[in-house]
Amino acid sequence: MFISLEHLGKDFRKKPRALDDLTLDLPSGMIGLVGPNGAGKTTLMRILCGIAAPTRGRVLADGHDLSDARTRRALKRTLGYLPQDIEPYPNLTPLEFLEYMGVLKGMDDARERRRQAGELLERVGLSDVSRRRIGGFSGGMRRRVGIAQALMGDPRLLVVDEPTAGLDPEERMRFRALLASLGGERTVILSTHILDDVAQTCPYVCVLRGGRLCYDGAVAGLVNAARGRTWVTPPLPAPPAGAVVANAAATPEGTRYRVVADVPPAGAQPAEPTLEDGYLALVAR
Ligand SMILES: Nc1ncnc2c1ncn2[C@@H]1O[C@H](COP(=O)(O)OP(=O)(O)OP(=O)(O)O)[C@@H](O)[C@H]1O
Ligand SMILES: [Mg+2]
Repeated sequence: MFISLEHLGKDFRKKPRALDDLTLDLPSGMIGLVGPNGAGKTTLMRILCGIAAPTRGRVLADGHDLSDARTRRALKRTLGYLPQDIEPYPNLTPLEFLEYMGVLKGMDDARERRRQAGELLERVGLSDVSRRRIGGFSGGMRRRVGIAQALMGDPRLLVVDEPTAGLDPEERMRFRALLASLGGERTVILSTHILDDVAQTCPYVCVLRGGRLCYDGAVAGLVNAARGRTWVTPPLPAPPAGAVVANAAATPEGTRYRVVADVPPAGAQPAEPTLEDGYLALVAR
């Protein structure tokens, strides 16, 4: 599915320009969406899913304007959404919850709903507990129920909002592998604060800051924002003024700071930038 944003903007009463003039053509495949807290990631995702309306501009899905109710109805049938704060119904079993989501997505054939629900639960590793109540599940298991429900109906557009937040490393890797297997023909938009998740799964990344797009393109290109601007200081008692600190390592003599700055702090050595350095260079003020 091809998504185009045209001068997209969103105002809230207490937060004008939560999104500000976003113009972008999204490729199909895995797209990472990163940015600091409050950058507008969730707001953008809600607009893409047709849950919230933009204040300015428009979204086209395969050339059809989302402000048209008919387009939104058609999108609903081919959309999977995993919200940031999903809490699946605790009294349902995963099987019941997925079948119910299938009904909401307009899957009319009950046998097909059941078949898909069973297959997806297998895929996310929950077939053993498919008939237990969700209320007794761990956070990671609930998140897996969340991604499985988003995949009901084999959506062409999949929107997942911080799916790995709060997961332990093993569960995160598992989730990452699952996400990586979902791309292909599909468009998958993944928001996260974990750059490594994006680097491992998404060829394409958008960086938002304060509602504006400050980078879009190949993940590897992010490092260029910090190229020639990344330094490691000698041991210091405090971080150098005016520099963006990317890392700090304690030593007996003081702390060595890894910083992104136009001008090197006194005595600092140049360093090869990482994705994190590039990201910080883009989003830090
Ligand atoms: N329903 C709302 N009413 C008022 N303001 C809102 C609403 N939703 C979002 N905002 C504001 O819009 C801005 C963008 O919020 P959004 O939730 O989209 O950011 P985010 O990038 O998803 O952040 P996070 O990384 O914390 O999830 C914030 O300043 C937020 O306070
Ligand atoms: Mg959010």
